Amino acid sequence: MTSTFQIPPLAELRRRQSAKWHTFPEDILALTVAEMDFPLAEPVAAALHDAIRRSDTGYAAPTGDLADAVADFADRTWGWRLDPAGVHTVADVGIGIVETLRRIVAPGDAVVISPPVYEPFSWWVREVGAHLVQVPLTETPRAEDDYPGPRLDLDALEQAFAEGARAYLLCSPHNPLGLVHPREDLIALAELADRYGVFVLADEIHAPLVLAGAEFVPFLSVSDDARRWGFSFLSASKGWNLAGLKATVIVTADRAPRRYVDRLSPHCLYRTGHLGVIATVAALNEGDPWLAEVLDILDRNRVLLAELLEKHLPVAQCIPAQASFLAWIDLRELGWGEDPAAHILATAKVALNAGHRYGSPGFARLNFGCAPETLTEAITRIAEYC
Ligand SMILES: Cc1ncc(COP(=O)(O)O)c(C=O)c1O
Repeated sequence: MTSTFQIPPLAELRRRQSAKWHTFPEDILALTVAEMDFPLAEPVAAALHDAIRRSDTGYAAPTGDLADAVADFADRTWGWRLDPAGVHTVADVGIGIVETLRRIVAPGDAVVISPPVYEPFSWWVREVGAHLVQVPLTETPRAEDDYPGPRLDLDALEQAFAEGARAYLLCSPHNPLGLVHPREDLIALAELADRYGVFVLADEIHAPLVLAGAEFVPFLSVSDDARRWGFSFLSASKGWNLAGLKATVIVTADRAPRRYVDRLSPHCLYRTGHLGVIATVAALNEGDPWLAEVLDILDRNRVLLAELLEKHLPVAQCIPAQASFLAWIDLRELGWGEDPAAHILATAKVALNAGHRYGSPGFARLNFGCAPETLTEAITRIAEYC
């Protein structure tokens, strides 16, 4: 597929006032925070323009539009038939997970995460006063697998669950590796959750961005065990680049977890962005063509990145992402120390995320949701100056 939209040039992107473009001075090329450089999907822009024209900037309303849009999208995209009655609106995934955790855990209860993982997972656990337990992904590929990278360490998770964990934060797809968990791992995880009584909070924010060759499996779709113990956090904020608009949903598919979500403050809806709900409904209902173009660009960018690394930094190791716009690059052999992102920023003026913040010194995370020219410039600059 050839792209029909133009990726704005860097000069225009630098006029954006969002975190990615407002954190660094002009001479730094930012491939950091999880925003994409693409123009807004046309139906989303139209819905927002209409709202502004109506001066429709009040509170989010308790309509079923968002729940219906989520249910339709999930069915159409993943064959997952969820009940709109189990869809609860909150402002963002962070708030959704923290507020859900508050209702599940008592101070000091163990909550498990699998590093390297999105850094705020550990913040969220600490925010609710729980005890953080880290069960890293497997170091090496599993022998029986054809996937060349790390996976969930199910044996180690079982041990942590058996030792009394109360909840597990699943990142699916897994940021920063772009790992798409296979169905059998999710089924096994759900079995463990049921055996040991552990809630699974599945952060599925990157799910719309699963790339060609991989299949996203929604956690709540895998089994009754998963439905009994699981919560899904879904959002259009990564897929359609709407993070600043603040609308997310928590999905439950069984009475037990729904009881906890029902106890969230009724005010949660009013804390959600009204424009975010409008944009999300437009994205989910009318945003498939745009998403298909983005997935195509991301697919080509991940191939380009592999070629650029092979050519300019052959010692760097990077397992191509199965999802999203994030590349997790092992730079340990280059001798750039624990924080290669700091070295790259200082010498090549390219900003990446520091791997040690996700639990892996010597690694860096690169955002390839950008023009191929930007990606090429970033890697050639790194190769030239570092
Ligand atoms: C896995 C994951 N979860 C959550 C978030 C943040 O989501 P929100 O802004 O909805 O809290 C991100 C942002 O990059 C992410 O990668």
